Amino acid sequence: MGTILLLFLCFLPGCLALTSTNIDTDQSSLLALRAQISFDPQEILAKNWSVASPVCDWIGVTCSSGHRRVIALNISNMGLSGTLPPQLGNLSFLVSLDMRRNNFHGELPPELAQLNRLKVLNLGVNNLNGLLPNWFGSFQGLEFLSLRNNSFTGLMPPSISNMSRLAILILVNNSLEGKIPEEIFNISSLEMISLGVNSLSGSLPDYMCFHLPRLRFIGLSMNKFSGQIPSSLAQCSELQALSFSFNKFTGNTPKEIGNLKKLEVIYFAMNSLTGEIPREISNLHNLEKLNLGWNTMSGSIPVEIFNLSRLKLMSHAGNKLSGILPSTVFYGLPNLEELYLNDNNFVGDIPESISNSSRLYFIILSDNKFTGPIPISIGNLRLLQVLDLTSNNLVFCDSSYPELSFISSLANSKNLRKLSVSNNPLNGILPDSVGNLSTSLQTMYAYGCGLRDCIPDRIGNLSNLIILSLYNNQLTGSLPITVTGLLKLQAIMLHINKLSQVSLEYFCYFNNLGVISLSFNQIVGSIPECIGNVTSLRYLYLASNKFNFAPKTLWNLKDLLVLDLSSDSLTGPLPLDVANLKIATAIDIGGHCNIAYPKTLATLCYLAPEYGFQGLVSVKCDAYRFGIMMMEVFTRMSPSNEMFGENLSLRSWVLDSMASALAPIIDANLLSTTDDHFLVKLDCISSIMKVALNCTRESPGERSNIQDVLEALVKIKLQLLPLV
Ligand SMILES: *[C@@H]1O[C@H](CO)[C@@H](O)[C@H](O)[C@H]1NC(C)=O
Ligand SMILES: *[C@@H]1O[C@H](CO)[C@@H](O)[C@H](O)[C@H]1NC(C)=O
Ligand SMILES: *[C@@H]1O[C@H](CO)[C@@H](O)[C@H](O)[C@H]1NC(C)=O
Ligand SMILES: *[C@@H]1O[C@H](CO)[C@@H](O)[C@H](O)[C@H]1NC(C)=O
Ligand SMILES: *[C@@H]1O[C@H](CO)[C@@H](O)[C@H](O)[C@H]1NC(C)=O
Ligand SMILES: *[C@@H]1O[C@H](CO)[C@@H](O)[C@H](O)[C@H]1NC(C)=O
Ligand SMILES: *[C@@H]1O[C@H](CO)[C@@H](O)[C@H](O)[C@H]1NC(C)=O
Ligand SMILES: *[C@@H]1O[C@H](CO)[C@@H](O)[C@H](O)[C@H]1NC(C)=O
Ligand SMILES: *[C@@H]1O[C@H](CO)[C@@H](O)[C@H](O)[C@H]1NC(C)=O
Ligand SMILES: *[C@@H]1O[C@H](CO)[C@@H](O)[C@H](O)[C@H]1NC(C)=O
Ligand SMILES: *[C@@H]1O[C@H](CO)[C@@H](O)[C@H](O)[C@H]1NC(C)=O
Ligand SMILES: *[C@@H]1O[C@H](CO)[C@@H](O)[C@H](O)[C@H]1NC(C)=O
Repeated sequence: MGTILLLFLCFLPGCLALTSTNIDTDQSSLLALRAQISFDPQEILAKNWSVASPVCDWIGVTCSSGHRRVIALNISNMGLSGTLPPQLGNLSFLVSLDMRRNNFHGELPPELAQLNRLKVLNLGVNNLNGLLPNWFGSFQGLEFLSLRNNSFTGLMPPSISNMSRLAILILVNNSLEGKIPEEIFNISSLEMISLGVNSLSGSLPDYMCFHLPRLRFIGLSMNKFSGQIPSSLAQCSELQALSFSFNKFTGNTPKEIGNLKKLEVIYFAMNSLTGEIPREISNLHNLEKLNLGWNTMSGSIPVEIFNLSRLKLMSHAGNKLSGILPSTVFYGLPNLEELYLNDNNFVGDIPESISNSSRLYFIILSDNKFTGPIPISIGNLRLLQVLDLTSNNLVFCDSSYPELSFISSLANSKNLRKLSVSNNPLNGILPDSVGNLSTSLQTMYAYGCGLRDCIPDRIGNLSNLIILSLYNNQLTGSLPITVTGLLKLQAIMLHINKLSQVSLEYFCYFNNLGVISLSFNQIVGSIPECIGNVTSLRYLYLASNKFNFAPKTLWNLKDLLVLDLSSDSLTGPLPLDVANLKIATAIDIGGHCNIAYPKTLATLCYLAPEYGFQGLVSVKCDAYRFGIMMMEVFTRMSPSNEMFGENLSLRSWVLDSMASALAPIIDANLLSTTDDHFLVKLDCISSIMKVALNCTRESPGERSNIQDVLEALVKIKLQLLPLV
């Protein structure tokens, strides 16, 4: 009977293939794969995949228990380099192929299409390239497909919709373009659609959720999608996460998303959404992350949203929101960890109840119109890491007591890394208790605050300080010698004050100091010879003081980009030996000095705060020098580097890299591929480099003027922190 059936089967097409493959075929397929591996750091396959032992015992290989054929191959995370051989298509019983996290490159061999039993295909985090093939349609039983973090290009093939059992589709971080084929929205088994970090475009059809009853996650961030967010999203009733950030979506946020009761995450940041924040969002009781930042939404925050008790992250930053924060709003947010309301038009007090959100560690309320005192209760937030209240109308707490008492209260926040209260009319005195702030403090900004009297000695306790920025105040007296304890300092900015005594000797022993800015004070004295030892210096602003001697050793500072000694009382011939300086970028030793301190270069991109060169931009320098300087700052490469010559300049190097890959030429201290928000930072630097390239065009007539440059830089301002 069995023989008859077999004979019968053998007259059917396909039988030949079925009978002619066996475990030896599987073995030769795997050996073909092994032969294509050019790098096997732990020699796993080289040693283990030995013909002396049965295939089914090979590492990463699973055989079926009955007829002993290879049904699963899992060689993930072995550091392998190589290409995929066509023979892989001969593993005809393969159900699961997991090769993720290696360094496979090249295109997918079309023979893979023969793997028609495949349910799991994971090739994520490799270097595969080429088009996504149309033959994907032959994987009709596929349930899991991940090609994340590869270099696939071109369109998404509509034949994907042949995978009628597909649950997980992950194509994130490739270079796909074009529209999402509408057939995909008919794969009713889909649970996850993850297409972020590509160049996909077009709008989302209104019917997209008509046939996706199981969809839990849809990720489209960092693409070029446009049009409105469809209100029919509400029909994907299982949705837990919507990630649409960094696209070009327009129109209102649909109020229907308030029906998606299982939603935990809404990322709509960095689009062009308008209108008001829908009140209906407050129905989403499972919501943990709400990021509507950097759109153009208006109106006030519906107060009910402050009752979303599971919320951990709330960002409405960078919109046109207004109104007050009612005094008790934070009672309803016991789990809040990150709050971003910066760059809006909020008014009124910062509620004392903020401390009831006791898990807060990021509070960014800068660039609003908040008034009233800085709540002392902030000091109860023991987990606080970053407090940024820059550019509001806040005053110190107790007007009968001119010391900034909230600073004493912050002593409890042992993890505080960044404190910024700049550009608020605090009009007070920095208290001694500044020395009680956490030693984890890295950046302290209190410029433009009307601070008066002396800088307290105990500031020297802040031993991990990297940036100290107290410029544009009314500080008097001397700089305490205790600053010599701040050995990690990269930038000290005290310009525009009334300091009369600053011993520059204090700075002679710093190893990382890049910026000393003391212009516009009343400092009398000479510039010490030992300043020439501070070879890390790039910006030295001493203008408009009463320095009377500049030593020759200044010219040892070969990496100096800006030296400003204008309007000082220097007598006698200056020891000018500019030829010694490799980069005489913006030396200004007299004449009319016009220094502007725009929003800082670093905060423009919210780059690592430890990168201290905080936007000391001399408008006096022309656009060309400024452009070169920007390229230098970001590449850490001097135009005089020996790699540059007749055929390659710093500019052409940057220009070429912009066309191919910018990231490798960026200073690794500034940007590393392992950074959070790497792509966003890269994008930001790329925008800055475009400005720099415009500044440095060959023909002076084509160059941007410096005002336009500064405006362009301000426009590049991106808020990274709360983004996906
Ligand atoms: C290959 O690895 C498997 C699993 O670790 C092991 O059982 C087997 O003995 C190894 N074979 C050889 C030849 O090293
Ligand atoms: C492959 O092996 C890794 C490491 O053991 C495991 O985490 C992963 O789940 C396996 N892949 C499949 C598809 O089973
Ligand atoms: C396996 O695949 C290769 C290339 O696709 C083919 O040439 C070869 O005949 C196949 N081998 C077997 C034993 O089926
Ligand atoms: C899609 O599936 C159909 C059968 O359902 C098949 O005829 C067609 O060839 C498949 N398309 C691709 C591209 O494999
Ligand atoms: C994209 O994938 C590449 C390769 O795996 C990786 O190096 C890079 O960090 C990823 N980019 C993003 C933004 O995740
Ligand atoms: C892969 O890409 C994702 C997002 O695109 C990123 O978060 C992740 O770090 C990348 N993984 C690797 C190993 O590059
Ligand atoms: C999706 O399915 C619906 C209903 O079955 C059908 O009317 C529509 O034509 C399908 N769309 C595509 C693009 O296949
Ligand atoms: C928030 O919740 C509290 C306690 O459940 C309730 O008293 C209050 O009315 C709610 N506020 C709003 C605006 O829904
Ligand atoms: C808010 O915090 C204050 C001070 O910690 C506490 O006294 C008060 O009971 C809290 N209120 C609520 C409603 O949690
Ligand atoms: C600072 O802390 C010390 C002890 O750590 C304490 O004695 C002192 O009172 C504190 N100073 C202020 C002004 O809070
Ligand atoms: C610093 O500079 C002074 C004067 O130029 C010189 O005498 C001294 O040796 C230098 N010290 C160090 C540690 O380099
Ligand atoms: C560069 O200059 C061109 C023409 O002068 C202008 O259109 C473009 O916007 C500028 N780009 C940047 C990034 O400033």
